[in-house]
Amino acid sequence: QKDGYRFFMEKEIYEQSDVISDTLLGRLSDDEIIFEELDTKLFDGINEIKLCACGTSYHSALSASYMFERYSKVRCSVEIASEFRYRQPIMNKDTLFVVISQSGETADTLETLKMAKKAGLKTLVICNVDNSSMVREANASILTRAGIEKGVASTKAFATQVTVFWMLSLYVAKLKNSMNTQELKHQINLLREIPLSVKVTDEMHERIKRLSKRYLHGHGFFFIGRDIFYPLALEGALKLKEISYLHAEGYPSGEMKHGPIALADPELFTIALLPQHLLYEKSKSNVEELSARDSTICAISALEFDKADDFIQINQCKDYMLEFFEMMIVVQLLSLEVSIRLGNDVDMPRNLAKSVTVE
Ligand code: F6R
Repeated sequence: QKDGYRFFMEKEIYEQSDVISDTLLGRLSDDEIIFEELDTKLFDGINEIKLCACGTSYHSALSASYMFERYSKVRCSVEIASEFRYRQPIMNKDTLFVVISQSGETADTLETLKMAKKAGLKTLVICNVDNSSMVREANASILTRAGIEKGVASTKAFATQVTVFWMLSLYVAKLKNSMNTQELKHQINLLREIPLSVKVTDEMHERIKRLSKRYLHGHGFFFIGRDIFYPLALEGALKLKEISYLHAEGYPSGEMKHGPIALADPELFTIALLPQHLLYEKSKSNVEELSARDSTICAISALEFDKADDFIQINQCKDYMLEFFEMMIVVQLLSLEVSIRLGNDVDMPRNLAKSVTVE
């Protein structure tokens, strides 16, 4: 069943190109996004989008908030379900409440969906499992088409969620007239390129495999990035900690100097996300600050970067969103290879379950 891969997680990383193609299938035309499952009335009178989820799905929601504000020009906020439930949140009727879940069964997320419905909000779920509790509960649903995800550490579900959010932000942009046709067409052409960007090459995988041996015994990892690469940094850190049991944090690059940089020394590993097309100079100088304080740095970028101890080069892409997907593959593979070297059971990490149906 693993088709020659060592673990399901590895197989699922390799499947991402295909499942993203599936998720895009039939949903792209030349100048619009098609969601047959949606009634445009869902967005009538909506001035804000609130996203709510747990874990990796929360990270995809965070990444979506950048797209909804940048492309759709709609105010967007993101909530951790287990926090949102208990803090007596204000829920206005002009808010579309969106929950994100691979399983559609996560107890805290499901409960926030019920709360929002009770408060009279319109609701939408982005989910990988048809007929799950959340799909049945929400007013509308968009299915990711990741197929069954066996590895406890989510990979392809995340990739398809971000893909759906990219499409949805353009769908809303068209509805709200917040993007011109030329830009919309350009964005749709970029979407078509994701499957290629996430194809794992032998060369990339071998490089990460070799390099991973240097990242096994430090006293911690910081994954750093700016803008939408910050949620990706959070996701990279979560992947690493859940399967390698090493301490890892995701942090916004510009925040390091407000405290965490005090930890910098050779035993502190920094995994730096350096997209060419988004805040490159700013991100670079943040990494240089860490390098000057002797943190061991692994930089991921399309552009050569000589201030790092290790450098993983991604392909040159046309747009930062494609860089996002290329870097996603790198952080997933890095976690996988570190975990394998440490002798862990990648697919069944200790203390974790695939679906968290208890609070
Ligand atoms: C991490 C992981 C978890 C889930 C979280 C939410 O790799 O898989 O953090 O993302 O438990 O699960 P869903 O998306 O099923 O609601």
